[in-house]
Amino acid sequence: MRFENQVVMVTGGAAGIGQVTAENFAKEGAKVAICDINADSGAAAAKALGPEASFTQVDVANSTSVSDWVDAVLDQFGQIDVLVNNAGITRDGLIMRMKEEDWDAVISVNLKSAFNCIKAISKIMVKQRSGRIINLASVVGVMGNPGQANYVASKAGMIGLTKTVAKELGSRGITVNAVAPGFIETDMTAVLSDKARDAMLSIIPLQRAGSPQDVADAITFLASDGAAYITGQVIHVTGGMYM
Ligand code: NAI
Repeated sequence: MRFENQVVMVTGGAAGIGQVTAENFAKEGAKVAICDINADSGAAAAKALGPEASFTQVDVANSTSVSDWVDAVLDQFGQIDVLVNNAGITRDGLIMRMKEEDWDAVISVNLKSAFNCIKAISKIMVKQRSGRIINLASVVGVMGNPGQANYVASKAGMIGLTKTVAKELGSRGITVNAVAPGFIETDMTAVLSDKARDAMLSIIPLQRAGSPQDVADAITFLASDGAAYITGQVIHVTGGMYM
């Protein structure tokens, strides 16, 4: 029970990696507050976590909704120990054809969201002089990926944000790290063609797609006491796709 008496916030906790991450924390004693844009599946996911979990419908790209959520969680639980910036979307297309609105949507949901959440939560963690922030990046934020200029830029931005906030908040006992998943079986990747899946699998030394559990376990490790001296890092969970 590594997270007994701890309060953990997970964005995009209704599905995929966020949902399993919330389950991991709840199983180890945390009070978990999830948010998601999807109200039905978010409410169901929180219910499955047990009576101490909460769900709030939030668009993480909207700074007012995010700060209202953070205030409500602080009011309910009195402290915030861990923030997982997980919510994310894709709007793929080659750069020459990418619509401006698809660029803006991905940058807002994947990157501005983390700014919104970290800004709202950092004052609380600084006052506590402790906290863990874990940002979901992606292996493509390091490697690049054709057809995903908006997504890759958002994930590379997440890595720069992680390192900078780690430097700003380290003196206050707060660690900030990123997890960079590779090819993980969730709704996000279910839309990929067989050809795209085979191309991904052909460059994974462990020869399988990852599961949300594989990523959630790295996230919970970074939030645990065992990771107390790790900050500003990008942990790749890719089956070796990138070394
Ligand atoms: P998913 O699509 O299964 O789940 C994402 C969740 O975020 C959904 O519940 C969705 O409703 C929520 N969400 C979307 N927009 C939102 C908004 N504006 N406000 C609040 N919630 C919102 O995705 P998955 O695969 O679980 O991805 C989670 C994170 O991991 C994302 O940041 C993604 O970019 C990242 N990632 C995923 C990889 C994969 O292969 N699945 C690989 C690398 C990174």
